[in-house]
Amino acid sequence: MTWHHHHVLDLDDFSREEIEAVLETASAMKEVLTRPVPKVHTLRGKRVFSLFYEPSTRTRASFELAAKTLSAEVVGITAQVSSVVKGESLLDTIKTLEALGADAIVLRHPEAGAPYLAARYCRASIVNAGDGAHAHPTQALLDIFSLRQRLGDLEGLKVVIVGDILHSRVARSNIWGLKALGARVVLSGPPTLLPMSFADAYAGVEVEWDLERALEGAGAVIALRLQWERQQDLIPSLEEYVAFYQLNAQRLSRARPGAPILHPGPVNEGVEIDPEVARGPQSLIDEQVTNGVAVRMALLYLLLGGAHE
Ligand code: CP
Repeated sequence: MTWHHHHVLDLDDFSREEIEAVLETASAMKEVLTRPVPKVHTLRGKRVFSLFYEPSTRTRASFELAAKTLSAEVVGITAQVSSVVKGESLLDTIKTLEALGADAIVLRHPEAGAPYLAARYCRASIVNAGDGAHAHPTQALLDIFSLRQRLGDLEGLKVVIVGDILHSRVARSNIWGLKALGARVVLSGPPTLLPMSFADAYAGVEVEWDLERALEGAGAVIALRLQWERQQDLIPSLEEYVAFYQLNAQRLSRARPGAPILHPGPVNEGVEIDPEVARGPQSLIDEQVTNGVAVRMALLYLLLGGAHE
């Protein structure tokens, strides 16, 4: 098995083989989660800290569950109720967790690059759980895992990512991961949230501002919410955004029949996605959340207890 990482910061430094290694390990972890007592002792004695400077439901809960299922000791820290409010810096906090025996620190931070800084000064494995608008590699891996489970090989598959691309760390990490597996990535959204520079920044990625054209023949669609917490004046009019960019049944009919719909959550139903589409038979949204535990178990196993070449 190919695996060389001590940290997981983004997917831009993951080869196809390394992504395959995560997916293969996640399949084995998914089997563990179906057992009557879903618990293995693989990471007994290891210490995993989750350190979150931004809100989270899915990522934090699934990482903590993943680590507990592997029998690691797990400590969760919310920055807003930690010594961060007394002036402790990120690096001081990281050093403190290291002094407490951290083997891995799962870090979410509003500033792009924060996990890279932590990784430079820390012996423990840093796992990026989302840094600003930059990267969310474990979300992309669980999206890819969910797609692979539903569709098999992604080579040549047209995947449309629609919404607030500009502020989306999920879109950026998915671009790297999907391209590594040979998928065709098409980005769609209003020009204010999808500058043409994305096509220059990511070789081979297509930008199509017209969502209906983008969806023609799509094999899968990833919808994203508007990230109001990162910018107040995202769009001139919410009504206009819904009219042109909401993923609804009529627009979806342009994609391949049965094309899976993904959304990293949290979902703003009625804005970026019609509730019937979000809860319909093509939706993988709940499966994504469930698969998040297996994928994060796989990553913790590979980082802390797995086979290194
Ligand atoms: N997808 C995702 O990162 O969700 P949370 O913010 O709830 O962790």
